Amino acid sequence: MLRRLHSEQPDSFAFSPANLAWAEAQMTKFPEGRQASAIIPLLWRAQEQEGWVTRPALEAIADMLGMAYIRALEVASFYFMFQLQPVGSVAHIQICGTTSCMICGAEDLVAVCQEKIAAKPHQLSADGKFSWEEVECLGSCTNAPMAQIGKDYYEDLTAKRMGELLDELAAGKVPTPGPQNGRYASEPLSGLTTLTKYDSGRTQFNASVQLATDIGDTVKRIDGTEVPLITPWLGKATAKPSKPKAKKAKVAKPVATKAAKTAGADDLKKISGVGPALEKKLHAADVTSFAQIAGWSDDEVARMDDVLSFKGRITRDNWIEQATILAAGGETEFSKRKK
Ligand code: FES
Repeated sequence: MLRRLHSEQPDSFAFSPANLAWAEAQMTKFPEGRQASAIIPLLWRAQEQEGWVTRPALEAIADMLGMAYIRALEVASFYFMFQLQPVGSVAHIQICGTTSCMICGAEDLVAVCQEKIAAKPHQLSADGKFSWEEVECLGSCTNAPMAQIGKDYYEDLTAKRMGELLDELAAGKVPTPGPQNGRYASEPLSGLTTLTKYDSGRTQFNASVQLATDIGDTVKRIDGTEVPLITPWLGKATAKPSKPKAKKAKVAKPVATKAAKTAGADDLKKISGVGPALEKKLHAADVTSFAQIAGWSDDEVARMDDVLSFKGRITRDNWIEQATILAAGGETEFSKRKK
């Protein structure tokens, strides 16, 4: 399937303070210089925050991790867990269309989605609540046909049950995941033939469904109310939201001379397009204030394009225009969001 960036993109992206703290803590799991290893959790967090992976989010995360944008796009476009276009506000339905599911009725489930959501995959329903797509085998073949909705699997589906699930979700309910035909797990449809005495004390649902039900986050997006990331390696129990600059000092282990040089510097990350990695490069080039950037000539822009190894970035993101506003004490739409 062709996966590419959506034609309509928001102007900017910024992690919420809680998500930024979480993301920065994730980055500290990896040795200095290997922060790119955090790309998948950071992309996932951005998707949880925004609903899908936007181009500004990809670029912001690539900047945070010191990666070329194309490398971040390669990851996001490879894994279909990442949505590259807006999805339904309530749920995005992923119907398995591989062999077992196809033989057992996946096409009927797709027909329900086409009728109740939208004619084509990745289109939003008229009310914006749902979207759907067909995906490859989700590893639940003994319970075919099945679909992933939010974070959980709905198995042993029929067209009728698929329609009911959509109606329940539209009404604000979260149907119990797992087999929808009365099966406990993936035992034979005719019932257990062995280990029949080992069911005393078992939970109401199979382990996966029980946990999903207990957590209750099937279609709920991460919103900062979850248990914070445990970061004992940072010398404290949890990663709490804090000002990026203070956090950065802990994570980046700056040398004394650099710390002195950038003390009192403007937060250049308030400029859309400047992430921690580019800010570091700017500081290394003795660029520490909005006023400096606001005063760049065309020649200086060309020189900084080379220094930053991001040709055209400064012009494309209007750094000079943004820096002029910020240097005058004003706020841009992006800097307001970043606050
Ligand atoms: S074929 Fe559908 S889950 Fe494997």
